[in-house]
Amino acid sequence: MTAAGAAPVVVIGCDGRGLPPHLASALRSATLVAGAPRHLAAVGDVGAARLLPVGAGASSWPDAVAQMRSAAAAGESCVVLASGDPGFFGVVRSLRETGVQVRSWPGASSVAQAFGRIGRSWEDATVVSAHGRPAAAALAAARVLAKVAVLTGPQAPAELFVDVLRRAGREVWVVERLGESDERVRGGSDCVPPYAEPNVVLGLTPGDDDLGWRSGADPVPDGWALPEDAFEHRDSMVTKAEVRALALARLAPRIGQTIWDVGAGSGSVAIECARFGADVVAVERDGEQCDRLRRNVSRHGVQVEVVTGAAPDALAGLRSPHAVYVGGGGLGVVEHVAGLASTRRAVIALAAPERVAPSMQLLQRNGFEVEGVQLNAARLRALPDGSHRLAATNPVTLVSGVRS
Ligand SMILES: C[S@@+](CC[C@H](N)C(=O)[O-])C[C@H]1O[C@@H](n2cnc3c(N)ncnc32)[C@H](O)[C@@H]1O
Repeated sequence: MTAAGAAPVVVIGCDGRGLPPHLASALRSATLVAGAPRHLAAVGDVGAARLLPVGAGASSWPDAVAQMRSAAAAGESCVVLASGDPGFFGVVRSLRETGVQVRSWPGASSVAQAFGRIGRSWEDATVVSAHGRPAAAALAAARVLAKVAVLTGPQAPAELFVDVLRRAGREVWVVERLGESDERVRGGSDCVPPYAEPNVVLGLTPGDDDLGWRSGADPVPDGWALPEDAFEHRDSMVTKAEVRALALARLAPRIGQTIWDVGAGSGSVAIECARFGADVVAVERDGEQCDRLRRNVSRHGVQVEVVTGAAPDALAGLRSPHAVYVGGGGLGVVEHVAGLASTRRAVIALAAPERVAPSMQLLQRNGFEVEGVQLNAARLRALPDGSHRLAATNPVTLVSGVRS
């Protein structure tokens, strides 16, 4: 906790516009001012304050936060200059996590400014950050979200996202160095590397707009475990709704997760995962099934990458999955996916009882907590006299594993 009586650290969001008088005066009476050199240079008069530059070649943000904490506890008057809205993917969180009290004066976030520069509203956009963290989740989200803004970083540069968004058919913009004299806003075919940092990448779906009453992407579809006739399929070869319900619960598909559906058939599991916002790769060896799967994907208006090939060989080179559904392909596939460090959840659907124990063992050997259940659903079917009979569906065993 902050020492009793210590004044809150004042965090000022810089967005290229000048400071109002009360913040200019807070700066002049500060004893310690931290921030990126470009922000320190831009604010001008900081009175007699010590300057603490942060960024490449200077202090790291964690060091600066620690110094702020000590200075604030010693009764100093501390100011932090940060970009945009410091409470939005910014330094307010890091300061609060060390117990420092904060008073923040946000500027316009780089995301709001970027959408402003291209003249678009953004309440229906989802913002993802790859700044200072692994890019996999942001990439998985960017592949599927209809309207997305990406905060990039040196380890996850704009190039990565421009490429992924273009392949997903999005209208792409890169907005570089907002508020600086070399600010640049480029879209469409003008959008070519190199991209100056910092920058924000925007991906939009032409014609897709507006949830109408709240911001962000819709995380939950309007129904799941859809009936089999929601999917074109051959000879009843489609995962039954009751099995899909449990499989979805165990796979936990959501925005930011990459999911493989191996032996995807008509693609019912893949499509349902995509409806929850996951980035999905469906692997299927039969070309005719792949055509059917693609028709099902477009019928449901989702994005699923379809890979034609026999697993496990066809799995080499695919982006790493967070969760995998194995509907076909045998124990070789189970062994492969259980051995991948990225796999946190695996669900294996088995008709043959002989494969249950080896599948469980493979998962257990790779550190998964494993459970199995045989599902025997009997559906009520109406008879002509108005009574019902029970119609059994084929039993399926689901083996599922989870590891942290
Ligand atoms: C740690 S986040 C801070 C976001 C900030 N709190 C905001 O509201 O804009 C850093 C990322 O914000 C974006 N960003 C910050 N300042 C920017 C600027 N002047 N021009 C373009 N993007 C900027 C970049 O994606 C950068 O990597």
